[in-house]
Amino acid sequence: MLPLIDYRQAPPLALIGLNRAPVNALGHALRQELQVAVRQACADPAIQAVVIHAPALPFSAGADISEFGHSRFTAQPSLPELLIELAASPKPLIAAINTLALGGGLELALACGYRIAAPNARLGLPEISLGLLPGAGGTQRLPRLIGVEPALALMQSGQPISAARALELGLVDCLASRAETLPDEACAYAHALLARQAAPFPDYPHPDPGQTVSASFFADYLHQHQGSWKGREAPRTLLEAVHTACQQPLAAGLAHEQALFMAAIDSPQSQALRHLFFAEREAGKVPGIEASLPLRPIRQVAVIGAGTMGGGIAMNFANRGLPVVLLEQTREALDRGLAQIRNNYEISARRGKLSAAEVEQRMACLTGSLDYADLAEADLVIEAVFESMAVKRQVFTTLDAVCKPGAILASNTSTLDIDAIAACTQRPQDVLGLHFFSPANVMRLLEVVRGQATAPDVLATALKLGKQLGKLPVVSGVCYGFIGNRMLEPYSREAYHLLLEGASAAQIDRVLTEFGFNMGVLSMYDLVGIDVGYLIRTPMRAILSQDPSYCRLADELYALGRYGQKSGRGTYLYAGRERQDDPEVQALAERLATELGITRREISDQEIHERCLFMLINEGLKILDEGIALRAGDIDLVWTCGYGFPDWRGGPLHYAEQIGLAHVLATLQKYRTQLGDYGALWFQPAALLERLVAAGQTHISR
Ligand code: 3HC
Ligand code: NAI
Repeated sequence: MLPLIDYRQAPPLALIGLNRAPVNALGHALRQELQVAVRQACADPAIQAVVIHAPALPFSAGADISEFGHSRFTAQPSLPELLIELAASPKPLIAAINTLALGGGLELALACGYRIAAPNARLGLPEISLGLLPGAGGTQRLPRLIGVEPALALMQSGQPISAARALELGLVDCLASRAETLPDEACAYAHALLARQAAPFPDYPHPDPGQTVSASFFADYLHQHQGSWKGREAPRTLLEAVHTACQQPLAAGLAHEQALFMAAIDSPQSQALRHLFFAEREAGKVPGIEASLPLRPIRQVAVIGAGTMGGGIAMNFANRGLPVVLLEQTREALDRGLAQIRNNYEISARRGKLSAAEVEQRMACLTGSLDYADLAEADLVIEAVFESMAVKRQVFTTLDAVCKPGAILASNTSTLDIDAIAACTQRPQDVLGLHFFSPANVMRLLEVVRGQATAPDVLATALKLGKQLGKLPVVSGVCYGFIGNRMLEPYSREAYHLLLEGASAAQIDRVLTEFGFNMGVLSMYDLVGIDVGYLIRTPMRAILSQDPSYCRLADELYALGRYGQKSGRGTYLYAGRERQDDPEVQALAERLATELGITRREISDQEIHERCLFMLINEGLKILDEGIALRAGDIDLVWTCGYGFPDWRGGPLHYAEQIGLAHVLATLQKYRTQLGDYGALWFQPAALLERLVAAGQTHISR
C-alpha cells in the first residue's frame, strides 16, 4: 500500500501519481513511497518507461520545509539520495509537470531524463528566498541542462518562470497543448521515446557547463552583484555551488552542493526567512474565525479621496478588473487624481509592463464621482481622505446614510481610532481599518484593523480580499498607529534624540543600513515627509508633553519648512536625490541640546543600534502583550514587509530571540539607568519581556 502514491500500470508504461495534499511537499513518507514505486516499476519486466505526475495536486512545491531541522529531513532516502537513484534509473522517467514545480519539485523533474509541462505550469527554484540554495542537485544539473547564465539567473531570482519560457531555455522538452491533456500527452511522449529507443537519461547539452561562460565570469558576476546582496549570504553560496558545477564532475559537485545546503539550513538567515514563510501562512488565520465562514461578496468598490493613497488603492482593484467608483470633493481634485492614475499606468506601459489596451481596460474600471449617491451599490467603501477625525466623522456619517445594508466600510487612517470612526455609524459591525502603505498599488503590506465591533465575516472578507489583491494582510487591533506606526514612534524618537546627544544623521542612518535596513530612519522621514511625521505625532502631543525633548528637532525642522526631499532640505540637504549632511542641522541640534540641558558627547555605533532597535523590539512586545497583534510573527511581517527591516533577520521579534531576550532586557535596563530622567521615562522594559526572561523563556509568545 502506498497511500501517497497513485500507482497505475499501462504497459509498457507505469504512471506514478504523487498525491500528498496540499502541494506534494517531498516529505519523508512521500520520498519513501516514491522510491518504492520507482523500484517497483524498474523491476517489472512489463514496464519500459515511467511517467511521474500529480493527478489532482500541483506537481510539487519542493522539499517539505516543516521537516527542516528535524531528523525526518535527512531520513533515508533523503531527497538528494532519492534523486541520484532516479537519475540512474535503467528505464526512462518522464516528469509531467502541471501547475507548479518548485524547489525540490523541479529538482525531481531534473532528475528525470525527460520533462513535459502543461502550458499553465510555473517552474522555479525559490530556495534563495528561504536563505538556501537548491540542495537536491539543482545547482549541478541545471547548468548542465541550460547553461550557467540562465541557470544562475533562475536560481538567484527565486522567481518562477512560465512553461513557455522553460521550453525556450531547454528546461522542459515539450509542452502539452492543454493542461487537461497533460497526462495523455505525457504518455504519448513516453511512447515516442520508447519508439526511438531513447536513452534513459540523455546526455546533457552542456556536460562541461564552464564552457558556456568566459573564464572571468564568476569573478565578474561577484563584482557586479555583491553590492545588491547586502548582508545576505545565500546568493554568494549559490554562486559558489554553480562555480563548482563548472570545476568538478557531477558526483563531486552534488556532494559539495549538499554540504553547502546543510550549512545554509542551520544558518540564522535561513531560520529567519523560514520563520517569515510560516508567519505569512499563519497571518491569514484568525483564532475563532473558521475557514468555512461565509464571506461577503465584493463586486463593486468605492474609494473616497483621490489623493496619494486613494488613487493607489483604487488601482489595486482596477488591476484585477473590479469596478471602482472614485469619489472626491471637487472636480479639480478628481481630475487630478484620475490623471495621476493614468500617468502611473502609462509609465508601466512605457516600461513594457502593460499594453496600451491594458491601460485602457484598467482606466475603464474607474468611474469618477462627486456624488455620494453613486456609492449606493458599493459592497466595499474605502475612505482615504485627510487624516482628520472631524473629516472622517463627516464621511462615515454620510456613508451610513447612503450605503446599502451589509456594505463594508473601511478607513485607511494611519493613526486614528477605528472604534471612534465606527461609532459615527449605526453599523459599527461593518466598519474596519484597511491600512495600505504608500505607494498603495505597490506595497504588499496591508494592516487589517479590527475594531471592537467588527463582525467576523467582515474581517474574514477583508483578509481574503487582501490576498486576492496580492497583498499580505496582517490583523491589528485598535491603538495609536496600529502595529507598524506605533513601533515606528519609539524607533524614530531615539534617532532624533541621538542627534541632540551628539550623533550625526549620517552616522545614525549608516548604523541602520549596515544592520540591513533599506534606508535609515532619518532618510526615510526625509522621503515620506517631515511634515507627515509632524502631523502623525499631533494626536500624541498631550501624552508626550512630559518630555520637552520629544522629537523637538523634527518639530523644529517642520517649523523651518524643511520637509525633506520634497522641499530639497530636511534632516539632510538634497541635490536631486543625492543627500549631504547639513551643518545648519548640526548647529540646530547643538542649540537645542543647550536649551534642553543635554550634554553632547561622542555616541558609539553600538549605542545607536541598541537604542533604536531595542526600543523597537520593546514596543513590539508591548503590542503583543496587549493583544494588538495576534502573534510575534505578525509583528515581524509588518516590519519586514512594510518598513524595510531586513527579512534575513526575520523581523524585530525574531531578531530579539536570536540575540537573546535576557540581553535585550539587560540592555534596556542599562540605558534606563544611564540616561537619567530621559532613560527613566522611556526605557521601561515591556512587562512581557520581563516575564519571559524571568521564566527563562527564549521564544516569544504571549
Ligand atoms: N513545504 C511544506 N509545506 C508547504 C510547502 C513546502 N515546500 N509549500 C507550501 N506548503 C504548505 C503551506 O505551509 C500551507 O500550509 P497550511 O495550509 O498548513 O498553512 C499550504 O502548503 C498551502 O500553501 P500556501 O498557503 O502558501 O498556498 P498558495 O496556494 O498560496 O501557495 C505555493 C502555494 C506557491 C506552493 C507556496 O506555498 C510556496 O511558495 N511554497 C514554498 C515553495 C518553496 O519555497 N519551495 C522550495 C522549498 S526548499 C527546497 O525545495 C529545498 C530543496 O532544494 C532541497
Ligand atoms: P492626500 O492629501 O494626498 O489625499 C486626500 C484626498 O482626500 C484629497 O485629494 C482630498 O481632496 C480628498 N478629500 C478630503 N476630504 C474629502 C471628503 N470629505 N470627501 C472626498 N474627498 C475628500 O492624503 P493621503 O496621503 O492620500 O492620505 C489619505 C489617508 O491615508 C489619511 O488618512 C492618511 O493618514 C492615510 N495614509 C497615508 C499614507 C501616506 O503615506 N500618505 C500611508 C497610509 C495611510
